[in-house]
Amino acid sequence: MSIINKAAAIGGGVIGAGWVARLLLNGIDVSIFDPDPEASRKVSEVMKGARRAYKQMVPGGLPKEGKLTFAKTIAEAVVDADFIQESVPERLDLKHKVLAEIDAHAPANAIVGSSTSGIKPTDMQVAMKKHPERLVVGHPFNPVYLLPLVEIVGGDQTFPEAIEVAKEIYASIGMKPVVIRKEIEAFVGDRLLEAAWREALWLIKDGICTVEELDDIMRYGFGLRWAQMGMFQVYRVAGGEAGMRHFMAQFGPCLKWPWTKLMDVPEFNDELVDLIATQSDDQAHGLSIRELEKIRDDNLVAIMDALSKQNKGKGWGAGALHKDYTKQLAKLAAKKPTASKAAEKAKASKPVKKAEKPAKGGKAKKSKKG
Ligand SMILES: NC(=O)c1ccc[n+]([C@@H]2O[C@H](COP(=O)([O-])OP(=O)(O)OC[C@H]3O[C@@H](n4cnc5c(N)ncnc54)[C@H](O)[C@@H]3O)[C@@H](O)[C@H]2O)c1
Repeated sequence: MSIINKAAAIGGGVIGAGWVARLLLNGIDVSIFDPDPEASRKVSEVMKGARRAYKQMVPGGLPKEGKLTFAKTIAEAVVDADFIQESVPERLDLKHKVLAEIDAHAPANAIVGSSTSGIKPTDMQVAMKKHPERLVVGHPFNPVYLLPLVEIVGGDQTFPEAIEVAKEIYASIGMKPVVIRKEIEAFVGDRLLEAAWREALWLIKDGICTVEELDDIMRYGFGLRWAQMGMFQVYRVAGGEAGMRHFMAQFGPCLKWPWTKLMDVPEFNDELVDLIATQSDDQAHGLSIRELEKIRDDNLVAIMDALSKQNKGKGWGAGALHKDYTKQLAKLAAKKPTASKAAEKAKASKPVKKAEKPAKGGKAKKSKKG
């Protein structure tokens, strides 16, 4: 059961709409602000896809959806929200402007999560004059309504209690929160993706492979391993009976060989963009983005579903969480409570209250984090 009474989404693009979908499908009311006149249409497209995916996950019927309201201002969207997720474009000046406005109008004990892909929370919370201690980065992965991971990062002024509450909030909507131990630009997921992306750009630019061949190398090979065991556990197994130590002894020397161009960045000019975009068009074989999204969602549900049956039926990795999440949704659907009743009950219990501590404390303390 969710511990959120009412949520607000600021920004309803690819990521904001994904948050809206996850929240609504968990029965939570959401108020959204996005100045784009097309926002409502775009959100409803994402909702269509998300409903379709959730119907596959919970065939017995979905929980009663939360109510979506389009607000005319940020103030109107956040005024009675106890959880706010900011998903505006990745520009520090815009994040400052939007977070200052959220902070000025949101209830003091509301948790504010930012979807930023890589801006440090310390650099964002300086714009929050009232309660910077309740800002956390809650970095999701697209599609937000299906992929469970959310990286949580606190800044210098973030209270440890805010991180704890954020963890509970994200977990309550079926996510896997991972708290990043030290604040760093691009956190962990995007650091890994950036490294792979840089290398991939060189491989295409130098004509070593096409975008389709590169994607095949991932999806027919190590991509399948990554989805279920990650990097280190896969390498542990690859070390044979001697495990990780043997693996490192064998492949350690490669670190000195010219196996990566990571420190060097290809010039991101029109020629490279054209090369990649043209190859990517060929690879799509005429499928639209929406059609590709459907294929992606079906595949993700199928992969998580398959993993949920592994490990003697207990589920493995993302599959174990998927098993619990689909059960939670089915239980919620069976009860069919109104979102507000459910939330009232949860509110009377605990976590969001904890956030009052940092908020009421007034002066921000330095978090325990680095
Ligand atoms: N796209 C991804 O894969 C991805 C993944 C994780 C995190 N993120 C992060 O999520 C955030 C949003 O990215 P996106 O991909 O959804 O971008 P997007 O361009 O699809 O959406 C941004 C939305 O914000 C709206 N917006 C602009 N100014 C606004 C304002 N003042 N108030 C409210 N809304 C405003 C825009 O109209 C647009 O709908 C960024 O910080 C990005 O780094 C993106």
